[in-house]
Amino acid sequence: MSSDDVIIYPATRLQGRMAIPGDKSISHRYALLAALATGSTTIESYSEGLDCASTLQCLAALGVPINISQGENLSPRGHEIRIEGRGLGGFTQPSAPLDAGNSGSTMRMLTGVLAAHSFQSLLDGDKSLRQRPMNRVIVPLERMGASIKATNGRPPLTVNGTNELKPIIFKTDTPSAQVKSAVLLAGLHADGVTSVHESIQTRNHTELALEAFGVKVEHKDNQVLLAGRQNLKALTLRVPGDISSAAFVMAAAAALPKSDVTIVDVGLNPTRTAILQVLERMGALVETSNHKCLDGEPSGTIRIRYGLLRKVEIMPSEVPGLIDELPALAALATQGGELLVRGAQELRVKESDRISLLTKGLRCLGAEIEEFQDGFHVQGNKKLTGGRANAYGDHRLAMAFTVAALGAVGPSTIEDATAVNVSYPGFFEVLEGLRQ
Ligand code: S3P
Repeated sequence: MSSDDVIIYPATRLQGRMAIPGDKSISHRYALLAALATGSTTIESYSEGLDCASTLQCLAALGVPINISQGENLSPRGHEIRIEGRGLGGFTQPSAPLDAGNSGSTMRMLTGVLAAHSFQSLLDGDKSLRQRPMNRVIVPLERMGASIKATNGRPPLTVNGTNELKPIIFKTDTPSAQVKSAVLLAGLHADGVTSVHESIQTRNHTELALEAFGVKVEHKDNQVLLAGRQNLKALTLRVPGDISSAAFVMAAAAALPKSDVTIVDVGLNPTRTAILQVLERMGALVETSNHKCLDGEPSGTIRIRYGLLRKVEIMPSEVPGLIDELPALAALATQGGELLVRGAQELRVKESDRISLLTKGLRCLGAEIEEFQDGFHVQGNKKLTGGRANAYGDHRLAMAFTVAALGAVGPSTIEDATAVNVSYPGFFEVLEGLRQ
């Protein structure tokens, strides 16, 4: 057995109250904007995952002073970070390639910022990131005036930025918050108004974070508009818990009879909460309470209880709002009911080909699942046997296979399971703590 493997024993039910680590998407954005602000920003509950550490390492290599300390009695509520902002356009040329690790968000959003700096930088990543499509950011950023070289549209990227970026009106082909954010971050440095049109709304954390830093952002129908060269003001921010990480705990609770789990301080931004409605459609009992708003980001408590699982179909228009949670939902559906997902071809270009490897891994645990080019169909009518499933370095697959394995008859081995550290260090310990 490799040290990256984890053995999962079946569970009867999960019960308890827990907090979830800081949201990965929001952490990246707060760090990037803090680096572009004037003054010193403090970020509490910054994600401890490796992806968000990659963003900090890249920023440090660009001359941004960063101080990391543990917050009060922490784990699982993350690090406290202090970032000394360099002001718009204030990064210095890195002396070595920037390493985004496994993080598509770091690479795509940082490319938007580097497009506005008049020096050359090289952005690289791990084996998985080197497979991921980058033309979606290269095309609009080149229209704005930067020059970006890739290999067949994939990393490493050589970015030749300019401090004379032009604003553009940009319509996204594929709904993507990372692409929208890259264009807005570049637009922040341009002279004039940049606008991004989305046919389907994606997560709006960049827009909310910009507003928290004092930037005026306009929303018109399905457009986001931003005048460039506005100053960002440093502040103290707190990152709410990551609902996409919570999704795996929720799926496990929804799968195991008599489970009852409460998750406190979770992000409840409406562009991320589609998972809660789908869990309810699948039969789980879901309640939210203690609603708050932290720096423009809604958050609160989620209570999730088991309910008899039913058949659910996910429409293509729902996919962008559930893109990171589909592996958790597939795992849940192996425990009962049925799940049909179509229009989700984007899953093939995530940290792995999540359609092919999700199907393969769940089958290894005994699931009945059919693969389509743009989705999958899970039949939850037979108890899983358990077995060996390989996550191939993909954090969300490691967590999905774990959820499925909890409901199996026998023990399972999840190979390459330490990948969970990308977004949710402590995932296995938290599940053990909830086991009754
Ligand atoms: C993210 C956007 C989504 C998501 C990813 C995080 C973000 O990617 O899958 O995990 O933080 O903006 P796309 O923008 O590629 O859809």
